[in-house]
Amino acid sequence: MTDATRPASLPLAVLLGHTADAISAVRGGTSLNDVLARCPAEARPGTQALAFHAMRWLGAAEVVRRSLVPKTPPPRIDALLLGALALLWPPGGPPYADHVLVDQAVSAARRRWPASASFVNAVLRRFVRERESVVAAALNDPLGRWNHPAWWLERLRRDWPGEWEAIADADNAHPPMTLRVNARRSTAAAYVARLAAAGIEAEAGPGHAVRLSRPVAVARLPGFAEGEVSVQDAAAQRAAELLAAAPLAPGAHVLDACAAPGGKTAHLLELADLDLLAIDRDPARLARVDETLARLGLRARTLAADAADPPAWWDGRHFDAILLDAPCSASGIVRRHPDVRWLRRASDIAVLARTQARLLDALWPLLAPEGRLLYCTCSLFRAEGQEQIDAFLQRQGDAVIAASPPSPGHLLPLPDNRQARPAPASSGADDGFFLTLIEKNRDHKHP
Ligand SMILES: C[S@@+](CC[C@H](N)C(=O)[O-])C[C@H]1O[C@@H](n2cnc3c(N)ncnc32)[C@H](O)[C@@H]1O
Repeated sequence: MTDATRPASLPLAVLLGHTADAISAVRGGTSLNDVLARCPAEARPGTQALAFHAMRWLGAAEVVRRSLVPKTPPPRIDALLLGALALLWPPGGPPYADHVLVDQAVSAARRRWPASASFVNAVLRRFVRERESVVAAALNDPLGRWNHPAWWLERLRRDWPGEWEAIADADNAHPPMTLRVNARRSTAAAYVARLAAAGIEAEAGPGHAVRLSRPVAVARLPGFAEGEVSVQDAAAQRAAELLAAAPLAPGAHVLDACAAPGGKTAHLLELADLDLLAIDRDPARLARVDETLARLGLRARTLAADAADPPAWWDGRHFDAILLDAPCSASGIVRRHPDVRWLRRASDIAVLARTQARLLDALWPLLAPEGRLLYCTCSLFRAEGQEQIDAFLQRQGDAVIAASPPSPGHLLPLPDNRQARPAPASSGADDGFFLTLIEKNRDHKHP
């Protein structure tokens, strides 16, 4: 948490109470976004800042709580303790002075569960007193050291034996705020100059990406309301760039199969004049595609439908290009959604991989010969990336990886190392992603 995001509006005790509610809800399977949407408006920014911090250090907080109180307290008291312990972490950089945090957590307990106040006081004061030894012991426990569930770490270790530790640490970093400059209106370099004139520091590139030195409210971005710029990570920007690189002829018939909230739909339309159909299964999320396109002055046909069931919506006209940004674990964007690792279950990955395979197989026949399909996920897990595509190529004899432009495959969200790009490529400070461009081979003879 930075000074800019540190909540100041309401008493800390009130925000700690809401943060405890958020931790309870996430542990019960509700996403932080949904929890925060239900939080009273005046408490939302503050609770968000505290809850994001708590999600990043929840593993350490759990290990510490268990060592101080072996018998699990009632869920809401436990959540308050976990939130407070996470906020007394990491050692050397907690966002509040110990005495402030402890007093406010006790006050939160007194407001909501008065009988537990002295217990909360005793646990937190003991942590502060014995911090050095308790922290050292917590760091010896993988949950305390890495702040990810055991199954997640195991999968990361198996998929990325040389990089898993750096990935797990990078997951707790604060992500950059990156913009996509509307290619119809400006360039990254010109927009960086406009930002500089507005007192906002940023660097241009690659492509239409502009990375801000510090996050700012979108209302402060010059021309945001007028559609000159959107917020989108640089790794996500590679999807539309790859698909449009061929290039796509004016009027090309394009499908964005999992479109909401419309970041990549809009990017495609900024890059080319397309006859684009954007579909998403979720009507509420699909409405956000329309909002995005309206702000940017772009046009597409939007449809609420199941992309895996073309007979229900396809008119029989083949697509020149298809973008499949498939539902996935979101394991590449843990920095932006720190709750995701605690929400997912180990069994989810196989279920998601089956959904992705079903979408790929259902959409492939809709692609014209020599057409291109861009498959991407914001996942680091190979089952949702390279293994998924290897199996697809085995199933579909007329599918080949496009030779040009080269597909990046897995991009890892490691600290910036653009100078030396080892394989697999690191996406620098950008999100983790998997991107592959697949071409339909006209000459393939079906057996
Ligand atoms: C990763 S998000 C897409 C993000 C979007 N492409 C963007 O750039 O803003 C995945 C989307 O797939 C949608 N989805 C999941 N299963 C689907 C299906 N069977 N058919 C259509 N959409 C689906 C979800 O509702 C979700 O909005």
